Amino acid sequence: MKDLSPKPGDLDHIETASRDEIAALQLQRMKWSLKHAYDNVPFYKDSFDKAGVHPDDLNSLEDLAKFPFTVKQDLRDNYPFGLFAVPRQQIARIHASSGTTGQPTVVGYTKNDLDMWASVVARSLRASGLRAGDVLHNAYGYGLFTGGLGIHGGAEKMGLTVVPVSGGMTQRQVRVIEDFGATGITVTPSYALSILDEYAKQGLDPRKSPLKVGIFGAEPWTNAMRLEIEEAFDMHAVDIYGLSEVIGPGVANECVETKDGLHIWEDHFYPEVIDPETGEVLPDGELGELVFTSLTKEAFPIIRYRTRDLTRLLPGTARSMRRMEKITGRSDDMIILRGVNVFPTQIEEQLMTVEGLAPHFQIELARPGRMDEMTVHVELSDGASIDIIETAARDLTGKVKSNVGISVRVNVAEPGKVARSEGKAVRIIDNRPKEG
Ligand code: DLL
Repeated sequence: MKDLSPKPGDLDHIETASRDEIAALQLQRMKWSLKHAYDNVPFYKDSFDKAGVHPDDLNSLEDLAKFPFTVKQDLRDNYPFGLFAVPRQQIARIHASSGTTGQPTVVGYTKNDLDMWASVVARSLRASGLRAGDVLHNAYGYGLFTGGLGIHGGAEKMGLTVVPVSGGMTQRQVRVIEDFGATGITVTPSYALSILDEYAKQGLDPRKSPLKVGIFGAEPWTNAMRLEIEEAFDMHAVDIYGLSEVIGPGVANECVETKDGLHIWEDHFYPEVIDPETGEVLPDGELGELVFTSLTKEAFPIIRYRTRDLTRLLPGTARSMRRMEKITGRSDDMIILRGVNVFPTQIEEQLMTVEGLAPHFQIELARPGRMDEMTVHVELSDGASIDIIETAARDLTGKVKSNVGISVRVNVAEPGKVARSEGKAVRIIDNRPKEG
């Protein structure tokens, strides 16, 4: 793999600033953001008033804990434009969640917001090792989803040649990477695996592809998966995080030279980690739910937004800004199986260690009697003999039992049988009877 570390002078001043300088900037911006939300969004005025707090009560960063949380339901209740802090005419762009599980959530951006977003995405792509003149194959979906257009704006801003291929038409993805000489790829890790399969189908060696780095996010993935992808493509694989409520991709990104968790661009997005049960702020280093407050956004300020993503905050390394550990999972995706909490990433980690199995998987939950049962659907890797089906299944069952602490069934199918994603993977199929 190529050395993609930054050279002196590559970084913005703030990326290597002292903690004091960062904190002073955050405090100044946080005061502005709280006041902006309170003065211009009736929802925030009501919720601050109900909690008996006023933006003037913020004298230190820790005072943020006095302010109420915002949750996804608040966005739904104010559908579509109720949380915008500027007149609709000043909104330059709208994005929205797909809304497959209820009312879609809508977010808006002013021209300044789009510019700030492009700058944090550019910072993320640079942290990943890309530089002006590189060719970026952007396979995140374009449309209401923030992935495609969000990456696109930052890539153009930093002078990359952007190929806006979007998701889908997997055969064509391979051809475009090869013919246009992509040096970077932005895509969900699960769709990267589908593209990898396609290389094999076309008889091409992915290690000979022009790619130097893949920038993967929008869903949880493990370090085990990182190694698998890095080995398969002979390229770096780094993690990018974000969510539409906060801005989209580019809230946090790993640095290619360290790959030790994601640096949060704290000069624009202030992170806290809370105990999901009590709402209490936890000290850095403890595992809990990630909460964000926007510091500079105009159209859609967001105050103490509960992401439901579980992680911990860690000190800066390659940059001064704090890191978040790779996300374990969302609280919504936590499965409680006979009293044990399980995340799909824990299954992924075990699967990656079993010889002869491909990295694709889905988890099916059922309740045939009174107890919940989990079946892990996996498949043989290309070229593996069907004679190993039983041993591979036994191997994975044993590893899940001893390392995760649960008993599961493993169903090993032929190559290509596990459902593929073209964006975010669907990891859990819940066939349990609905409560009530
Ligand atoms: O997924 C934005 C994005 C696009 C991020 C492209 C990275 C790359 P949403 O659709 O609003 O936005 O979904 C946000 O996806 O709360 C996490 O649960 C999950 N997620 C995003 N990035 C990661 C990641 C985009 N790197 C939700 N690791 C978030 C784990 C992630 N989960």
